[in-house]
Parts: sequence; structure tokens; C-alpha cells
Amino acid sequence: MKIKKAILTGGGHATRLHPITTTVNKHLLPLANKPMIFHAIEKAVKAGVEEIFINTNPGEKELQQHIGDGGHWGIKITFFEQTGGPQGIAHVVKEAEKFIGNDPFMFYLSDNILLGDLNEMFDEFVANKYDCMLALSEVKDPERFGVPVFDEHNNLKDVLEKPQDPPNNFAVTGIYLYGTKVFFQAFDHIERSARGEYEISSIHSYLLKQGKKVGAKEITGWWKDTGKIEDLLIANHLLLEKMDAKDFPNHGTVEEGAQITGNVHVGSGSQISKDVVLTGPIIIGENCVLKNCTIGPCVALGSGCDIKGARVEDSIILDNAEIDTDLFIQNSIIGKSVRFTKKSSDEGRSMVIGDKTVVEH
Ligand code: G1P
Repeated sequence: MKIKKAILTGGGHATRLHPITTTVNKHLLPLANKPMIFHAIEKAVKAGVEEIFINTNPGEKELQQHIGDGGHWGIKITFFEQTGGPQGIAHVVKEAEKFIGNDPFMFYLSDNILLGDLNEMFDEFVANKYDCMLALSEVKDPERFGVPVFDEHNNLKDVLEKPQDPPNNFAVTGIYLYGTKVFFQAFDHIERSARGEYEISSIHSYLLKQGKKVGAKEITGWWKDTGKIEDLLIANHLLLEKMDAKDFPNHGTVEEGAQITGNVHVGSGSQISKDVVLTGPIIIGENCVLKNCTIGPCVALGSGCDIKGARVEDSIILDNAEIDTDLFIQNSIIGKSVRFTKKSSDEGRSMVIGDKTVVEH
């Protein structure tokens, strides 16, 4: 039976991404100028999903405002609030049981970014009549993830959550497929872990011990769990590098004399003056003003940004940031409406820096 439903995560507080996530839901942080969760929605839609259910933090309406009802992608999107506070990601799925009924479904952690698509995995799941299927990726730090355990015939035998001494270098990524009812039957048999959460790995471990047919497939291309600031920058970099030239149209005004090399998208209403050097890949949002600056490669600028004087490389700059400095800004994330302006060298620096901000000068 084909998978037409998916549950995507949209909740949590992403403390590891502070301060950038103190005012914005992590899943709306832009990667290559597109909210992180849009990348997940697009992968699901491309694989044939027609209905998506997204959990939200109680009272939060930010995701609904940005994502809408799914019409943009020709599908239906429903939001649901998680009750009883955070209890682990397996609990997110349990809370969506009423939407899933007896249908097979995908569960996708929306902070997982991948380059390839999921169509092959969906096809293999159906062809092999799996009860559950896990996507794997080779990583340097498996102790941060769920890790598969294989027997001597290379068959999956167990999944360990964040083991101190991982048996191999594979991570179970946050992309899971389930057949009719199996997830919910397993949920009734798992206990909370030491950190008080219903772990997704406990579900898989239980299914394997019950002799269920659990398949695994290595993700081809590239996969990243964007749990840390450096992961966001790497994801932004790779997504920009892999985009097609056709995804970089110029809708803005570029003065004669501006030097542009590589793929550069200039959003409508944006103005690039003659003393600007742009080295793609770069995405510049709408209504930005760039003067006397050197930008790129691998920079995503939101809309309404004003940049003067700076050199910016490998960075994400959110909407309405105003940057007027001679500094070289690299591997940085600059939040919405940040003002980063210059004073003469003998003047004291005056700053308003939010909680947990990092300044390396
Ligand atoms: C979660 C899962 C883990 C999985 C990871 C993938 O971890 O518990 O098994 O490998 O997602 O992104 P978390 O990111 O919640 O620490």
C-alpha cells in the first residue's frame, strides 16, 4: 500500500540553536532562503505524500501562518498541538494516531535536511512489504544519534539511542516509514528512557525483537541533522551549491560595473550598486540594498537587508538586517532586524547584544 500520509515535527524549543531560535521556531529558519520545514514538505510531496500533519508547541501559531493549509504544494496540511508537554518524538507520533488510522505513513523530523529524494525508499518499502523502514547515513559522530546494530549476516537486529560506544558509524536518520498499525502497537509496549522521553529508537528496537520486518536503506547523497549552528551553516552551504542555475533568476536592479560570478539570485526590488562584488552561489531576498560590499560564496540574505562595506562569506543573514561595517563576516548567522553599524576607530563601541549571542571579534 502506497504511503500518502506523513507526520512532520514542528515543535520543540531548539535551545542548542539559541539565541537565533529565541524569536523564531527552528523549523522556520531559512536554509538557502527557504524555511527548513519547507525542504521537508517538498521531499514528502515529491515522494507522493498527499496529507501532512505537523505538531506545534501549545499556543504557537507561527508555523500555521508561514505554511498555511498545504495548498501551495497541492496537498492538505493539518496542525496539531502536543498535549502534556514534550515527551519525546515517539510521543509526537502517538498524538497523531487519530489522523493516521490504519494507513501507512512517513514520520520525518523536519530538522533533517537531505539532498536526494525519498522516492526509492518509498518504492522499496512497498515492494518488500516492510512493517517499518529506516533511513541510515554514515556519520563521524554516531553517539549523537540512534545507531543500528547488525548481526553477522548484516541483518538489522537492534537500534540503540545515542550509545556511548557505537558498534558502527551509521546514524538512523529522522526519516521513518511505518506500515498499518505497527507503530501504535509498539508504542503501547515502550517505556520512557532515562531522560524521561518516549524514544523513537525504543519503537524500532521493540519491532525488531518482535520479529517485524524492518528494512534499512542508506541515504545516498548527503544528510544532515541541523541541531547545531555549524550544521545550519553546512546545510545552507551544500543546498546553495547543489541548486540548479535556473533557480538563480535576477529580478532586481544590478548597476553596470557590479562584478557577478557564479549563480546569484537577486530578489525583486533589490538593488546592487556598481561597487559590489558577488561570487555565487548567493541568494539575495527581496528589497535588499547592497553597496560597496563583497558577498559570497554561499551566502543567503533574507529580504529587506541593507549591506554596506562588509565582506560576507558562508553565512545566513535573516530579514531586515542592516550591516554597515568593514569587517569580514564568515560562518555567521545574523538574526532578523539586527543593526550592525560602524563607528570611527577612536570611538567606544556601543552595542545591544541579546542573551546568549556569540560575538568573536
Ligand atoms: C533524534 C532521534 C535519533 C535520530 C536523530 C536524527 O535525535 O532520537 O534516534 O538519530 O533524531 O536526527 P535528537 O535529534 O532528538 O537528539
